[in-house]
Amino acid sequence: MSNGPIQEASVALHTNFRPPQLAVIVPSYNERGNIELLYEKVALALGDTPWEMIVVDDNSPDGTADVVNELSRVYANIRCVRRFGRRGLASACVEGMAVTAAPYVAVIDADHQHDETILPKMLAEAQNGADLVVGSRFAEGGSAGDGLSATRLSGSNLANRLAGMIAGQAVSDPMSGFFLMRREAALEAAPKLASDGFKILIDLIVTSARMGKPLKIAEVPYTFRPRHAGESKMNPLIVIQYLGLWVSKMTAGALPPSFLLFGLVGGTGVVVHLAALALFTSIFGQDFVVSQIAATLIAMAWNFVLNNNLTYADRKLKGTRLITGFLSFCAICALGGIANISVANAIYQWDHQTFVAGLSGAIMSSVFNYAVTRAFTWK
Ligand code: GDD
Ligand code: MN
Repeated sequence: MSNGPIQEASVALHTNFRPPQLAVIVPSYNERGNIELLYEKVALALGDTPWEMIVVDDNSPDGTADVVNELSRVYANIRCVRRFGRRGLASACVEGMAVTAAPYVAVIDADHQHDETILPKMLAEAQNGADLVVGSRFAEGGSAGDGLSATRLSGSNLANRLAGMIAGQAVSDPMSGFFLMRREAALEAAPKLASDGFKILIDLIVTSARMGKPLKIAEVPYTFRPRHAGESKMNPLIVIQYLGLWVSKMTAGALPPSFLLFGLVGGTGVVVHLAALALFTSIFGQDFVVSQIAATLIAMAWNFVLNNNLTYADRKLKGTRLITGFLSFCAICALGGIANISVANAIYQWDHQTFVAGLSGAIMSSVFNYAVTRAFTWK
C-alpha cells in the first residue's frame, strides 16, 4: 500500500490499532441480559491478546442488538451483525466467521454456560497446529456440571453416540457449542454446511473430512455452567433437525438434511387427508369427488404451513410471499401428483405389482415435490 495521506489519516485514527488475532462469535437470540457481562468476562480472560467480539443476532424481539450497539459506542472491538427474517444458530456462526479478518475464530454461547477462561488455552492449541479446538465437557477434567438436566444429559448421550457414527474420528464432545478454529478451515467447509439447527461442530468435522481435509482436533476440558439470564432455545425441532443432518451424513448426502422433516410433514399430511376425507364423506354425506378435492386442499394447506414453520423455519415466508408461496406449492404438488400417477402406471404396466408401483409413484412424487418446492417455493 502507498504511503499517502489516506494512510496517514488512518494511522492517526487508529493509533493503537492491532489487528485481531481472535474473533469471538456469539450467536444470539433474546440474550439482552447476558451480553455486557459476557463481553467483560471474555475481555478479562483474553488479556492483551488482540481480539474482537461479533454478536450475530437474529433481530431478537428483546432488543439484544441495541444492547450490543450501545457497547460498540464504548468498546472498539465489539459489533453486531443483525439478520432479518432468518433464524438459526449454525448459520449465525458461519456468518460471524465470514465477517472477520482474524485468523482464528471461536464460537461461544451468549448465556455464560461456556467457560471463557479456557479461551487462551484453546487459542494456544490452535497456534500450535490444531485446526479445531473443542471446549469439552466430557474430556478428562471436564464436566457437564449443573448445566444439563437429567433429561438433557441422556439426550446428549444419545446424540453423542449418533455423532460418533459419522464423526470418523474420536471427539469426546461432538455436540459442543464451544470451539475455536482456524478461520480458513472453517470457511472452506462453510458453503457445504447445513444451515439449519444447532449442530454446527459435528457438521464442520464431517464435512471437512468428506472434502478430503480432515481437521486436526485438540480438546480443552471445562465445566458446563447453568445459564445466566434468559431461556434456552433448544426445542424438539432442533432435535429433528439434528436427526436430519445425521441421516444426510449416514447416506453420504443422498438424502439432504431437510428431506427427513419434509417427509415427516408429508406423513402427517396423509393422516390429515384421510381424516378430512372421512369427515366430509360420512358426516356431511358429500359425494366422493367433492370430498376428495376438499381433503386434498386441506392436506396441502396443512403441509404448506408445517413446512413453512418447521422444515424451512430458517427461511419462513411471510406477508404476501405467503400467498404466492402457497400457490406455487399447490402447483408443484399438482405436477408431483401427475408424476406420481405416470410413474406408478408405467411400473404397473411393466410388472403388475400394485404395491410396488404405488410406492414407487409415491416416492417419485415426494422427491419431486421436495426438490422443486425447495428450488421455487422456499428458494
Ligand atoms: N442468532 C441466533 N439464532 N442465535 C441463536 C438461535 C437462533 O435462532 N438459537 C439459539 N441461539 C443462540 C442463543 O442465544 C445462545 O447464545 C446459543 O445460541 C445457545 O443457545 P441455547 O438456547 O442456550 O442452547 P442450549 O444451552 O440449549 O444448547 C447449548 O448446549 C448444547 C449442548 O448441550 C448449545 O451450545 C448447543 O450448541 C449445544 O449442543
Ligand atoms: Mn445455553
